[in-house]
Amino acid sequence: MQEIVQQIKGKQVAQKKFPFLLKDGIIFPPQLNLEQSSSEKTAIYKSEALKGEKFIDLTSGFGIDAYYLSRNFNDITLIEQNPELLAIVKHNWAILDKKAKFVNAKLEDFLYNNQEYFDVIYLDPARRDQNKNKVFLLEDLSPDILEIQEKLLSISDQVVIKLSPLIDLKYLISVLPRISRIDIVALKNDVKEVVIFLSKEVQNEIICHCVNLESGESEFSFNFGEEENANSEYSEPERYIYIPNNSVLKAGIFNLIAEKFKLKKLHPNTHLYTSDEIKADFPGRIMETEVVDSKSIKKKEQFNIISKNYPLKPEEIKKKYGLKDGGDDYLIFTQSKKGKIILKSV
Ligand SMILES: C[S@@+](CC[C@H](N)C(=O)[O-])C[C@H]1O[C@@H](n2cnc3c(N)ncnc32)[C@H](O)[C@@H]1O
Repeated sequence: MQEIVQQIKGKQVAQKKFPFLLKDGIIFPPQLNLEQSSSEKTAIYKSEALKGEKFIDLTSGFGIDAYYLSRNFNDITLIEQNPELLAIVKHNWAILDKKAKFVNAKLEDFLYNNQEYFDVIYLDPARRDQNKNKVFLLEDLSPDILEIQEKLLSISDQVVIKLSPLIDLKYLISVLPRISRIDIVALKNDVKEVVIFLSKEVQNEIICHCVNLESGESEFSFNFGEEENANSEYSEPERYIYIPNNSVLKAGIFNLIAEKFKLKKLHPNTHLYTSDEIKADFPGRIMETEVVDSKSIKKKEQFNIISKNYPLKPEEIKKKYGLKDGGDDYLIFTQSKKGKIILKSV
């Protein structure tokens, strides 16, 4: 019975997360392994940057990342410490007609004995404990990247590591001097992954890509450090209001984004931007709005409420003004340098 439930749950998760596995004969692992897996969509995005002869995934898990990330390689190795999980992946890959070497080992032991060179090493470390409120440090992960980074870079020119969106980027750069690239990957404006690329040489420049998959928004790339020299101009709301996507917000480039798109900011702590001329390739939402008086808001009117740097949350605003949720129109409650303001979409 338990086994059947596991397979049904697996199929349900696969429908959303990895539909390529909805095939006869595919076996799904327990829930935790499904949760720890990447989605097909983010795996495909990561695969686009990788190419070579030899690929190794040192933390294979259910092998979703490995399946896609290895598609531009001829020689593929998967390492996983959990023997049951690796056996499932081996079975599934036979059905998918995908060849690899499957090694059941602790990656530390594998690295200790390894003499081979790899074009790309991939890792997706697991969290040692599930306490979500704790400060997120690399030491909390298995494996601990800080301990093995030198070893990894001695057998490969490129090490790619997937990390949680909760990780602090400045902390990462301070502890990993070989970072050459950081990708902040969101799917429909939900930041799913921070992916770092380590290279052999210490890097002077770290390129950062902010992506929002399936949003139709352009990718935004910049050099880490550019934000420190960027300045914002401030203004009261002009014709268009810009809300950066969550990938850009995660990057913390609140002045740079204004400078690059020639936008003005509403307030130092309000991450909303404005212009009279539309900047259509802005990575985020663009709305045409006008400032309205709170007295013009009528009870029972229907709006989507956005609250940014405003003392009340959307729920509290709805209650206070007796508004209904939804519809096509928006009200933005926020602050400019002059004080609290309400903007209405036009
Ligand atoms: C987050 S999951 C990987 C998910 C995978 N990227 C996917 O898309 O399906 C991490 C996996 O690493 C394995 N792992 C963690 N520490 C390990 C170690 N020291 N040696 C080998 N495997 C390890 C865990 O057993 C777990 O299955």
